Amino acid sequence: MSCTTDNWEQVQTAARAVLTEPIVAHILKCRADPEPASHLISVLHQVQAHFGFLGHTQLDAVAQLLQVPTAKVAGVASFYHFFRLQPRGRFIINVCLGTACYVRGADRVAQKLRDELGITWGETSKDGMFTLEASRCLGTCGLAPVLKIGDEVHPTVTPDQVPVILAKYLPRSRKQ
Ligand code: FES
Repeated sequence: MSCTTDNWEQVQTAARAVLTEPIVAHILKCRADPEPASHLISVLHQVQAHFGFLGHTQLDAVAQLLQVPTAKVAGVASFYHFFRLQPRGRFIINVCLGTACYVRGADRVAQKLRDELGITWGETSKDGMFTLEASRCLGTCGLAPVLKIGDEVHPTVTPDQVPVILAKYLPRSRKQ
């Protein structure tokens, strides 16, 4: 019996160590509710706001502290598009797929980006530098097709320009 109690306490302590004090306090408040699972979205928002994404370790800790099955926590995290399951890259690449950009070749630019980075939408390159996202109209249709990397807008982009544009953001040591 005491072995079970010890194990429970160890698991709870380990879960608390993964998260921050305010998040743990919020979860414990939610756990007192008759339906703790109904608070999952608010808890996951709080975790993502702090860590930038929802990794396995954070999801397991939420499940343990909220006393909700891990599969349910992971299911909610992967169902909603506003939750990210991977860390974001240092630079977010927004490819405009609005009408003006699309008819001027944004899909070919997007394909070149996917090929160069080896990732698809929502993913982050292995080196952690870039996350690829699709956007609706960025409001600069006269410059279509448009890419936004970080805060910088790249106008009238062609697929051939993609490697040169990406190289601008790489550390000096990696440029050749
Ligand atoms: S459609 Fe791309 S900027 Fe408007």
